[in-house]
Amino acid sequence: MTENVERIRLVADDITRLAVDAIVNAANRSLLGGGGVDGAIHRAAGPELLAECRTLGGCETGQAKLTRGYRLPATYVIHTVGPIWQGGEQGEPALLAACYRNSLDLAVAHGVRSIAFPAISCGVYGYPLDAAARIAVREVRHFLQGDTRIAVVYLVCFGEEVRNAYQQALSLGSDAAYPG
Ligand code: AR6
Repeated sequence: MTENVERIRLVADDITRLAVDAIVNAANRSLLGGGGVDGAIHRAAGPELLAECRTLGGCETGQAKLTRGYRLPATYVIHTVGPIWQGGEQGEPALLAACYRNSLDLAVAHGVRSIAFPAISCGVYGYPLDAAARIAVREVRHFLQGDTRIAVVYLVCFGEEVRNAYQQALSLGSDAAYPG
């Protein structure tokens, strides 16, 4: 295992329980809450989170915005909006990759050293898990290669299927994980 791989860790947990510098929320463009991981984060963070989100004016797909974590153990929440899967020809892969990159850029700008991602777009938004896991691993790997400020990136596996997809993606070499 390379040093880089050790900086990417799979964790099977509820993301709201993780005491990291930042957790990422798979939000929608309104940033005003929803179901899935978004709902869980808002419930655990408390109403102050929604109050701050209301000041942000929403967020475009592929972009990211940062708030405090309030009652969460995490210091910050980085809200990003994944693409809705529409068959793959509507720019979904590039938008999903942008979610990871923009979240990591924002994290670095706020001095974050540990960050946890859910499997963005893999729930309600319907992105095929294996393809999404490959993009997540590719983008995080690429980012960590060029950045030493982030110490560890947790990929949260909410369920066995997600874990299997990440394990498969991580086992692919860098070249295989970087198709054209
Ligand atoms: N901790 C970690 N992962 C979780 C948790 C949790 N507590 N709960 C669910 N997941 P989804 P999306 C996983 O649907 O597909 C919301 O309504 C889940 O198993 O939360 O990007 C938003 O407001 C899946 O692997 O997000 C948007 O409208 C992953 O998180 C929309 O859903 C993402 O599933 C976004 O859909």
